[in-house]
Amino acid sequence: MALNIVVGITGGIAAYKAVSVVRSLVLAGHDVHVVPTESALRFVGRPTLEAISRNPVHTDLFEGVAEVRHVAIGQAADLIVIAPATANSIAKLAAGLADDLLGNTVLASEAPVVVAPAMHTEMWRHPATQANIATLRERGVTVVGPAVGQLTGSDSGPGRLEEPDVIVRAALEVAERRAEAGGRRGAALTDRQDLAGRRIVVSAGGTREPLDPVRFLGNRSSGKQGVAIAEAAAARGADVTLVAANLEVSEPGGCRVRAVSTALELRDAMREASEGADAVVMAAAVADYRPATVSEGKIKKVDGEEHMTVELVRNPDILAELGASAHDGTLLVGFAAETEPDPERLVELARAKRRAKGADLLIVNRVGWSEGFAADENTVSVIGPDDAVVAEVVGSKVSVAHGILDIIAGRLAPGAAPTKEPHSA
Ligand code: CTP
Repeated sequence: MALNIVVGITGGIAAYKAVSVVRSLVLAGHDVHVVPTESALRFVGRPTLEAISRNPVHTDLFEGVAEVRHVAIGQAADLIVIAPATANSIAKLAAGLADDLLGNTVLASEAPVVVAPAMHTEMWRHPATQANIATLRERGVTVVGPAVGQLTGSDSGPGRLEEPDVIVRAALEVAERRAEAGGRRGAALTDRQDLAGRRIVVSAGGTREPLDPVRFLGNRSSGKQGVAIAEAAAARGADVTLVAANLEVSEPGGCRVRAVSTALELRDAMREASEGADAVVMAAAVADYRPATVSEGKIKKVDGEEHMTVELVRNPDILAELGASAHDGTLLVGFAAETEPDPERLVELARAKRRAKGADLLIVNRVGWSEGFAADENTVSVIGPDDAVVAEVVGSKVSVAHGILDIIAGRLAPGAAPTKEPHSA
């Protein structure tokens, strides 16, 4: 279906790459209207944009007043893609400012909005930018990138505009999901349904390995990040199974919950639930070892013995097992919580872990005595199949959940997978 697509271009060096975005959309048969900001035109010329888009290009609010252009473009749009989106334009979008044609177009539109940020790493990491990105995500905007890599100067880090083909694929996927979720217009902006028709399995919490009827070996995972991912995926239309290890949750956001306690129970539940799923996210903290024997009665201390030895045996590595089994069509996402303080070594550890476990994506965060676990804020890096850091996501666990799902949504096998029930459900 040919769509009416607005491509907003804002004023950054990466504006030249927007030409490829426009070109791909036009070649795919869509009707593309480019709305650059004035500063974008300092980086890429209007004639180029008109030639490539095959449509006139306007920036000025006071041109075309008779045809009420400032609202007409937005009202007619099926999809709005803003690439590159500078820190300034993201701030304006978050605040709902409309001092140029692009701002008016966005406000006058009910179409899904896809934003591809590009800026220097410091600007991307600035709390103001992160708060604005979180606002946009909460409002249902899809954020693609930024990629991590060489920036305009000698610096490198997160801030590079995502590759044009990745932006185009993600944007068309968003439009397709919106269309499937009940029409091109009319759906509220918050009503992003880009995971409709997808089946996603998320494990969360921490396993407990019993020693006796009253004691266990456990860990400090609060399950907050995993539950946030499950809830956000359900809100975006996915059919979600949450395999909850020792969590007090009752169907958050309409997820189907399977309560488990030990690593072996978690493994059985994951094997069953992940059959035919579109994505499996292993956010649970799994005990690597369990007591070799579980005492029937409460273990008593022995008078005079100052030391006690508990023999442990290895638990299966659930993620590695899933990674080793044929999982065609299922995107496998692992987590790594590491205490390594050096960011580069942290990423190296995560790369090695992703390869060892056969996961498609690995999400790494730093944990410590006072970081990570029960906190509401999180900072994660996402490692992709080619070992590249595909994104760095910062913010509340809810906002990070949406950021992770943006990456997952862009990498799911194409097309709407029919909702499949797990075999035994
Ligand atoms: N994981 C798993 N089964 C295990 C251990 C871990 O499925 N027995 C999964 C976790 O859910 C997570 C990923 O593997 O998605 C990494 O977990 P982590 O505890 O960081 O890795 P380990 O393999 O336990 O490595 P380490 O030796 O660093 O503890």
